Amino acid sequence: MTELKTAFEISLKRSAAEVEALLRIVLSDAALSDEITRPANLMAAMRHGALNGGKRLRPFLVRESAALLGGTPEAALRVGVALECLHCYSLIHDDLPAMDNDDLRRGLPTVHKAFDEATAILAGDSLLTYAFDIIAAPETEISDRQKTELVLALARAAGAGGMAGGQALDLAAEKSPPDEKGIETLQAMKTGALLRFACEAGAIVAGSDIEDRKRLRLFGQKIGLAFQLADDVLDLTSDAKTMGKATGKDAARGKGTLVALHGLDWAEKKLDELTAEAVDLLAPYGEKALILQETARFIASREN
Ligand code: IPE
Ligand code: IPE
Ligand code: MG
Ligand code: MG
Ligand code: MG
Repeated sequence: MTELKTAFEISLKRSAAEVEALLRIVLSDAALSDEITRPANLMAAMRHGALNGGKRLRPFLVRESAALLGGTPEAALRVGVALECLHCYSLIHDDLPAMDNDDLRRGLPTVHKAFDEATAILAGDSLLTYAFDIIAAPETEISDRQKTELVLALARAAGAGGMAGGQALDLAAEKSPPDEKGIETLQAMKTGALLRFACEAGAIVAGSDIEDRKRLRLFGQKIGLAFQLADDVLDLTSDAKTMGKATGKDAARGKGTLVALHGLDWAEKKLDELTAEAVDLLAPYGEKALILQETARFIASREN
């Protein structure tokens, strides 16, 4: 168990370093072909929101899902970096005064604090658009068919019927508290959709058949729910220093969370259940799935 955990930690750290290095390259000031120019202040804001921090869990899931099914690590890294850009956009906008109004993210001032609100909005817009650029670009060496599948799946995961829609429901829930089903839907959208995409994307990069793709998708769905549940538990039990972001704010804002509805003991049990279900889903892959299974356990028991 300890050995396993170490192997997992080493892989996550190594993967995060690769993600950071590629992000640094793609977010440089040099304009790409057909871009006109990259405004220095905007690029600095994008780098502020995307570099230096974060667990880089979504790219790790793309990478490990692809590895499980025989996808190339280079393409998986590019798709992971695209997804991380989109995730960072969601965080920049989530922190805006019109949304959660947070000052601290990944231990640093949020983008609208370090720059200004308009720049934060545009940095988010640009990171969102860039995600699709990175997938479609020739440097991502997969077939056009695979690219189209990724673009479609990511658009559906991130848009009105996915993450952005979930954020809308999350804000509406502050005013009129949803029931359990409503909270589950909201969380499956605002957080679950991108984690589900991460796992499914690995299968697309690997050119997997529909069975494997469905299995990875379901795995992503389970860990997605667990991920937001753990985030909500940590908001209640952890502190800003550990988390790199303010805590105790969900209750203060009357956020609709399952922890608020059922309490911490229930949440811990539910996390164990979701993890066990996720781990079982990958049992047919045997030893090859150990790292992904460990990732599911990490998501439920993480400390930040
Ligand atoms: C935070 O996501 C936002 C949620 C979806 C709950 P992460 O916990 O993955 O944030 P970083 O990327 O590690 O900072
Ligand atoms: C954020 O959920 C989800 C997205 C950014 C899509 P939270 O609002 O709970 O995330 P934190 O706690 O600010 O990271
Ligand atoms: Mg929020
Ligand atoms: Mg927030
Ligand atoms: Mg939160």
